[in-house]
Amino acid sequence: MRSSKDFFRPLAVGAPQPVTEIPARPSRAIHFFDPSNEKMAAKVPQMVGSVDVLLGNLEDAVKADNKEAARAGLVRIAKETAELGGQSGPTQLWTRINALDSPWVLDDLTTLVTEIGDKLDVIMVPKVQGAEDIHYVDRLLAQLEARAGLERPILVHAILETARGVANIEEICGASPRMQGLSLGPADLAADRRMKTTRVGGGHPGYLVRSDPDPDQPDAHRTTYQQDLWHYTIARMVDACAMHGIYPYYGPFGDIADVVACEDQFRNAFLLGCVGTWSLHPKQIEIANRVFAPSADDIRHARRVVAAMGDGTGAVMLDGKMEDDASLKQCLVMVELAEQLAA
Ligand code: GLV
Ligand code: MG
Repeated sequence: MRSSKDFFRPLAVGAPQPVTEIPARPSRAIHFFDPSNEKMAAKVPQMVGSVDVLLGNLEDAVKADNKEAARAGLVRIAKETAELGGQSGPTQLWTRINALDSPWVLDDLTTLVTEIGDKLDVIMVPKVQGAEDIHYVDRLLAQLEARAGLERPILVHAILETARGVANIEEICGASPRMQGLSLGPADLAADRRMKTTRVGGGHPGYLVRSDPDPDQPDAHRTTYQQDLWHYTIARMVDACAMHGIYPYYGPFGDIADVVACEDQFRNAFLLGCVGTWSLHPKQIEIANRVFAPSADDIRHARRVVAAMGDGTGAVMLDGKMEDDASLKQCLVMVELAEQLAA
């Protein structure tokens, strides 16, 4: 099977290249669990194989009094669940550590790398402000990995949830070869920016545009179009990640009951270039697995274009639409994703 690399070989001159080829493992849903919550933790082993990523959360949503219990719970679950995490397991194991200015983070990193470093795939770092935060984690991880004799580097994922982090987005993405991706942190980011929404992700009924007035119709007939509060930030994330060869993700969608709006948000993120999202409830896993994969129609169409384009140059007409070298590359994105998910 040809890949986009066969058609698109960028000149190495001046173009920023990813330092490390980050393994493109499926990560459509990153399902959060609180390892200090025994009921929730007990379900983790049964979820292995049915979700791409299980993430033991140590930061926000875990009570201050439970921080040690959460850390210890994550160590225990990782050790007891043979198939979870590591290079070849069906479900990756990630964690979200406490913030770098918190009293817990040093023990989070020291304990987790020492005890379960061979199983941990990715460490999510919250409230990243700039490259210096990633440099600190990177250096500490290198020391801890060397001491523990680990051969596989643990990757790092930054949550974008401060205005300063957004301003420094490119340098954060390129701060270390360990950088795996970025997630949107809409709740913290909204607070930091002093946005006037109290929702965790998603749209807002007040954020809209309205069609022009019609002199023959009362104002009540004017159509309103709700806009996406997060479009700007997600678009910036997608560009910064693509530039550095790492992966962008939507973050939390807090209204668990509103599965329709959740699916819309996830789909917008997928269409813009995100590879996955957080899941806060098992029903969001099903939505994410469906949405962050090309549809059967998209794959069929993409394969037809690849076949019709022969050597990959020139233009052809298919169903009255023009296809050329550039639309072939778009189709290869779909085909490669479909193959990765089917593997
Ligand atoms: C996630 O951590 C958020 O702040 O939205
Ligand atoms: Mg947050």
